Amino acid sequence: MSLLLENKTAVVTGGGSGIGRATSLLLAKEGASVVVTDVIGQNALDVAEEIQSEGGQAVGMKVDVTSESDVAEMVAGALREFHKLDCAVNCAGISTAPAAFTELTLESWNRMIGIALTGIFLSMKHELAALEGNGGSIVNISSGAGFTPAPGQPHYTAAKHGVLGLTKSAAREYASRGIRVNAICPGMTDTPMLREHFEQAPEMEQMIAQIAPSGRLALPEEMAHTAVWLCSERASYISGESIIVDYAGLCR
Ligand SMILES: NC(=O)c1ccc[n+]([C@@H]2O[C@H](COP(=O)([O-])OP(=O)(O)OC[C@H]3O[C@@H](n4cnc5c(N)ncnc54)[C@H](O)[C@@H]3O)[C@@H](O)[C@H]2O)c1
Repeated sequence: MSLLLENKTAVVTGGGSGIGRATSLLLAKEGASVVVTDVIGQNALDVAEEIQSEGGQAVGMKVDVTSESDVAEMVAGALREFHKLDCAVNCAGISTAPAAFTELTLESWNRMIGIALTGIFLSMKHELAALEGNGGSIVNISSGAGFTPAPGQPHYTAAKHGVLGLTKSAAREYASRGIRVNAICPGMTDTPMLREHFEQAPEMEQMIAQIAPSGRLALPEEMAHTAVWLCSERASYISGESIIVDYAGLCR
């Protein structure tokens, strides 16, 4: 059977952990050469090494998505190493402890918007420029909170709604140029980010298992499969979409 992304090149932000890591590994398994990036540079290098050790092609880079020069260098690195760009999956993100609206500090607001919204804008800006003339696919990782507010997370909710706006906006602008842009809205997914929450509130894990129709958390690989499919020609007529991946769950 042929691979979904043979001879394609992909960049991944936040690729050192969780959904970004699983997506980097699966992109490579499907034949893509992958530029794995993360603000924790060593984690990006480790994932790239894992891909190489399994016979795939990858490079790891330290990229902070809040820095335009880092993001520009990420795209330049992809062109330098692999001569073109075909796909991008923008996964970088953070979570913070819940806070009431009136308790949310400006610092916390700015940090969240800087990473989860401006970071996606900067990534898309440079990825779109590289995809022009070549065509390709961008997948942004939003959240169920892109549709339904996450309790105690107005800044996260606003950023993730904003990602859907950026996605639709770029999809419309670039539709005639063969560039597709979509978003994935994951439900609760078993990643280090979520595990950190469970450490603060251990009762949450059991509660989710009880109220989620699936009776379990999603796996990062289940998000990765959706992202890789959206990157591939199998999704050739899908653009401007926001796909909720939560097994009829809590996001609606
Ligand atoms: N896990 C969930 O339940 C869940 C649900 C909905 C949406 N999401 C979204 O999925 C994405 C991935 O999250 P995850 O659960 O895999 O978390 P994770 O913490 O495992 O991975 C996030 C990665 O982003 C990196 N990162 C953080 N700040 C960065 C920056 N400034 N520049 C570059 N990289 C940076 C981190 O170092 C980390 O490697 C996030 O956007 C998150 O909001 C996660």
